[in-house]
Amino acid sequence: MKEKEFENIFLEKSIGEINQIPAKTLTEIALSGRSNVGKSSLLNSIISKKIAYTSKNAGKTILINFYKAKNFRIADVPGYGFSLKSRNEKTRFNKLTDEYFNSKRPDCVLQLIDSRHDLHDNDKQMINFLSETKIKFYIILTKVDKLSNSQYEQFYLNLKSQISIISQNYSEIIRVSAKTGLNINKIRSLIISEAKNSRWY
Ligand code: GTP
Ligand code: MG
Repeated sequence: MKEKEFENIFLEKSIGEINQIPAKTLTEIALSGRSNVGKSSLLNSIISKKIAYTSKNAGKTILINFYKAKNFRIADVPGYGFSLKSRNEKTRFNKLTDEYFNSKRPDCVLQLIDSRHDLHDNDKQMINFLSETKIKFYIILTKVDKLSNSQYEQFYLNLKSQISIISQNYSEIIRVSAKTGLNINKIRSLIISEAKNSRWY
């Protein structure tokens, strides 16, 4: 039933400049996080198809890719926190991501954090930004299949206390694995519920 909402999703548009953005006609969920955190992999798991490019190398997604379904859009936004070789590309990338989030377009942001690493400064900045701009956001801990339960517990408690210093405004912390499928259904439900509760529905 849940999967049905994701069945006919397709890559609607890839944009390299903010003025190419599709008109806002639907609830928009954005995937945000450092490069390589697993944004595109999470998207593929949610829609049960390999639609988004994933890579071991950081910086695979350099355009904002909009995936459109009947009741919502998902934006796969370029990851932050890596250096591109070309100065021009780097300028464009930072500008595009900044402009996108500054436009406050997303109705909800899934802020991904790699469960093997501590919060980086740019994660903290992003969480702070989301909190201050009052965009609804969830913290999604990725790649939890790489941790044992006790390692996860330790990581979770540490992360929660680090985040609480920056923000109390997040909706929930959810751990996921694109590899094992852990909590992927929960993310699907969350997206559907965001769509149903929005003025676009
Ligand atoms: P950019 O496009 O560069 O911003 O990266 P991204 O955030 O889209 O990351 P991507 O989905 O391309 O994943 C990066 C790497 O992590 C790939 O090698 C994935 O196979 C791996 N990966 C992603 N999710 C998981 C997971 O849940 N478990 C494990 N074990 N590996 C994962
Ligand atoms: Mg990607």
